[in-house]
Amino acid sequence: MLTLAVASLSGGQGKTTAALFLGRKLAQLGYPTLLIDADPQHNLTTYLGLELKPNEPMLLEFIKQSVELQESIYPVTGEDNLFLIPADDQLDGVVDYLASSGVGATLLKHRLEPLTSTFKICVIDSPPQRSQICLTVLGAADGLVIPAEASLKGYGSLVRTLDLLKSMQNVRATQAQVLGVIPFRDRWIGNNQSTESRLAVEAMTEEVGKTLMLPSIRESERYKQAINRRQTLTDLGYSDLEYPFSLLIESLVQQLGEPSHV
Ligand SMILES: Nc1ncnc2c1ncn2[C@@H]1O[C@H](COP(=O)(O)OP(=O)(O)OP(=O)(O)O)[C@@H](O)[C@H]1O
Ligand SMILES: [Mg+2]
Repeated sequence: MLTLAVASLSGGQGKTTAALFLGRKLAQLGYPTLLIDADPQHNLTTYLGLELKPNEPMLLEFIKQSVELQESIYPVTGEDNLFLIPADDQLDGVVDYLASSGVGATLLKHRLEPLTSTFKICVIDSPPQRSQICLTVLGAADGLVIPAEASLKGYGSLVRTLDLLKSMQNVRATQAQVLGVIPFRDRWIGNNQSTESRLAVEAMTEEVGKTLMLPSIRESERYKQAINRRQTLTDLGYSDLEYPFSLLIESLVQQLGEPSHV
């Protein structure tokens, strides 16, 4: 199982959007895919339409090992190959648990080990803060996808995320490597990119180099529409908007093996 973290250390950077579209696309290609909602805001769980009662097992219980691990994994209704470890706002309670465990950064990785032959890929949506949850997510990851708004704020988010990754790599708390940076809400008017977006994307490219830059998620209502209707962008007739995810998946195929249907 290849574990991807989608992380970016500011609010509204496209983490949940990227995790959702990436996970769905991988599942549609035939890869058994596990999504993990590691954000107490639990937007990913909401977007996937999972309505759970507070006493049902979620990521908190999965990490604390207070239930059998399969009990925290739910199939996503209407989607083949797609499963979710959901969250609710109680997930905040895991912060103290991780901190006092003394092995917070490696705990999620350890918990996921029994699932490595069940799923081909795991995609984790992370919270915007540099919290214990973010550390355990990066600690579990083989690869890191960083969405960052095409703005000054987004550039700052990218820099903070890279700093955190580096400080964890330095003490061998993660093996994750950056797989790609996706500019989010890149603004274009007709054929013209806004100056703010252009400058931000240039600064990001300077930071990570051309090869790690993925095509942008453009500013568009289509993504929200697809999320709200629980449809894919292709279903809506906008398959071109899936390009950043398709390209990233193409680069992973060697590690994942060929998908069962394309
Ligand atoms: N292409 C797009 N253009 C404009 N808005 C978008 C686009 N895609 C998604 N959005 C909206 O932008 C908002 C932020 O996106 P998202 O929730 O993915 O960011 P996030 O990084 O997960 O935020 P948080 O840190 O709060 O978890 C959401 O309301 C989402 O619906
Ligand atoms: Mg989010």
